[in-house]
Amino acid sequence: MEGHRLRTIDDLDVRGKRVLVRADLNVPLDGDRITDDGRIRASLPTINALRERGAKVIVCAHLGRPKGEVKPEFSLAPVARRLGELLGAEIAFASDVVGESARAVAAGLGDGQVALLENLRFEPGETSKDDAERGAFADRLAALAELYVGDGFGAVHRKHASVYDVPRRLPHAAGGLIVAEVGVLKRLTENVERPYAVVLGGSKVSDKLGVIDNLLDKADRILVGGGMVYTFLAAQGHQVGKSLLERDQIDTVREYLARAEKAGVEFVLPVDIVAATAFAADADHEVVPADAIPADRMGLDIGPASGRLFAERLAGTKTVFWNGPMGVFEMEPFAHGTRAIAQGLIDSGAFTVVGGGDSAAAVRTLGFDEAAFSHISTGGGASLEYLEGKTLPGLSALED
Ligand code: 3PG
Repeated sequence: MEGHRLRTIDDLDVRGKRVLVRADLNVPLDGDRITDDGRIRASLPTINALRERGAKVIVCAHLGRPKGEVKPEFSLAPVARRLGELLGAEIAFASDVVGESARAVAAGLGDGQVALLENLRFEPGETSKDDAERGAFADRLAALAELYVGDGFGAVHRKHASVYDVPRRLPHAAGGLIVAEVGVLKRLTENVERPYAVVLGGSKVSDKLGVIDNLLDKADRILVGGGMVYTFLAAQGHQVGKSLLERDQIDTVREYLARAEKAGVEFVLPVDIVAATAFAADADHEVVPADAIPADRMGLDIGPASGRLFAERLAGTKTVFWNGPMGVFEMEPFAHGTRAIAQGLIDSGAFTVVGGGDSAAAVRTLGFDEAAFSHISTGGGASLEYLEGKTLPGLSALED
């Protein structure tokens, strides 16, 4: 899709310059404990490369969705601490985004030093739909630096000030993470090696409609699990008890199933489900056939026979993209399906891409070796929108 060459940091003369780096440091937190620091680690190579070249590095990022208000529970302070630990360097943390603290911190940086600004989304201008409001905030953010590096791949699908407007105000380049992520996604869209299987999970089918629509012309096989699968089962006429269900999507899903059949794309749905009495780790649960979920139970994972079926449908493929867990993997009784899929990807021997914050976190928290996958993407929505064929604001803003 994006046809132009992305300028990289090799094309910028950064020595002694203040460089604003838009990173994606949107990590899961439990209180102020980071439960998966994958995105922080993925941001290190670009920050380190800039430090080594003598840049004054000002990192900016968002955390959660505080909706333009200062909310302490969304502070990036825990992220600043972890970033400092991982870099083995002192991080100057600004207590605001573009205010007095940010200006002082930016002005005080020496060559090779790193600062982190407070959560971009504490400022309403960051996410505003109004171009003028976003632009006014982008002016203030751009004023902190002389150069801009876009490296927050997970946020490139957002038309936000730090992603889209700031690079239009400063000489800019793409960081190593964005270059690597785009390189991998190209392998999934241009001359993909077949058979190409896509595994989709996660809770909401409405988030995945665009990508399914696009994949009906591209994938050979689509495997569905996670919370979204109950809308598929309902579309096939099955009762789904108290499981998650998007009633308003049933007709669309039914139409996709029909289109897939015509196009020769195989949809693989679970044959059994782990059904529980409540959304809780200690809830009573049992494995039931996918077409017989009891009225008083909710499906929280795909069952063991489905895990085997999915692994079998991944064997022999050449390319696999996986987005979204198969069940509530954070609770051990409902983690088996996600584990089976992760293992299925590894055993397939295919070029495997794990996309999305949740599936990437699942792979790590379930103890899989990251190196066993060809690529673990830091972008969930971003990789899906790329695969949908959409123009991503954060990439088009970086193009020459
Ligand atoms: C993500 O977590 O996928 C990215 O950081 C983007 O976050 P957002 O969906 O809140 O824009």
